[in-house]
Amino acid sequence: MKPIKVGLLGIGTVGGGTFDVLKRNQEEIRRRAGRAIEIAMVADLNVARAREVAGAGCEVVSDARLVVDNPEIDIVVELIGGYGIARELVMTAIANGKHVVTANKALLATHGTEIFKAAQEKGVIVAFEAAVAGGIPIIKALREGLTANRIQWIAGIINGTTNFILSEMRDKGLDFATVLKEAQRLGYAEADPTFDIKGVDAAHKLTIMSAIAFGIPVQFERAYVEGIDQLQAIDIRYAEQLGYRIKLLGITRRTAQGIELRVHPTLIPAKRLLANVEGAMNAVLVQGDAVGATLYYGKGAGAEPTASAVIADLVDIARLASADPGHRVPYLAFQPDAMADIPVLPMSEITTSYYLRLKVADKVGVLADLTRILADAGISIDAMLQKEPAEGENEADIILLTHQTQEKHVDAAIVRMEALATVSGRVTRIRLEQLS
Ligand code: HSE
Repeated sequence: MKPIKVGLLGIGTVGGGTFDVLKRNQEEIRRRAGRAIEIAMVADLNVARAREVAGAGCEVVSDARLVVDNPEIDIVVELIGGYGIARELVMTAIANGKHVVTANKALLATHGTEIFKAAQEKGVIVAFEAAVAGGIPIIKALREGLTANRIQWIAGIINGTTNFILSEMRDKGLDFATVLKEAQRLGYAEADPTFDIKGVDAAHKLTIMSAIAFGIPVQFERAYVEGIDQLQAIDIRYAEQLGYRIKLLGITRRTAQGIELRVHPTLIPAKRLLANVEGAMNAVLVQGDAVGATLYYGKGAGAEPTASAVIADLVDIARLASADPGHRVPYLAFQPDAMADIPVLPMSEITTSYYLRLKVADKVGVLADLTRILADAGISIDAMLQKEPAEGENEADIILLTHQTQEKHVDAAIVRMEALATVSGRVTRIRLEQLS
């Protein structure tokens, strides 16, 4: 069979890794795919560098439109990122009848519905394993391996930059700003790390997993997104004293009322495997009704780990391209006419446990006031820690862990606590998941 021809848009880190892995493993990949996979064309603004990476035998152009319009190209691999030109190129490639492989989580989380609809109409495949958790085959696992299950929830560490920062803050007792600078110096964090530290990157990935898990449209705009930039080193220390670690988790859960879709710093018991995922590694925990909990761990970024996912998609397309579109694995796991209209819940309706830290005057009755407020709101206390005032100060830190409750009850309790004359400043609130 003749080789399947690939056009690459953008040849940065992942594009380079894709060339290297395809070349190194070409014989095994051909035996698996049933035909050779050939990168026939590359578009990159830096043509000289692209030529160096691509080598002889591969056409290099600076205008990506030449790739998506080339009738010789069977599959377009989009590695540009963002929602601007990348969206236009992906839509044109689909309109031209080409299959698409993309690592672009931002694009799929915001424009996925439009892209999948166009692909469905055209009978082409849009594959995106590399968009979520880099080299971890989590899309394949959710869409195919776990297909017998009613997925109940997913909790994932799906941003390596923030996990690295949190690991360093805990290990070295440093504050967020110091570790961020160090992460940038080491090349873990981008020069503009906003999407990572604000939780946006994780929310893009979570939105895609949620759609596949529950058969709902991608709806990033409904996700609750809170990053780690406000997290204080002292809360990491107190959490540790109580037997917990703080991770930036992406959580999506099916409840009777709707779907929870949220990214925020979360306390999890230190003994959980997920709590011990350190540095820039990613991990995703999936709870299915038949299989129970399964955990997927690996590198969430980097040249060859991401190339591993891109090439897996290329092999899938090489195998499936000739199959009747109606018999292919659906983009979002569920058949397009069987998608559900389950609402995504507002944060006030989600259910979880809480870590609350307050600075209080060291006076008679303060604790009684706090526990009364929680009792009035129907919130049960799970654990408590009081730190005596530092020398020369007269305010103490009180840390309360609650049992599960709805967020709206905690919101109301926090308003009442902050109104007490004996409580100074804001109450720090971090959500807590037992993951059991
Ligand atoms: N910036 C991401 C991370 C990798 O730190 O995990 C790409 O999504």
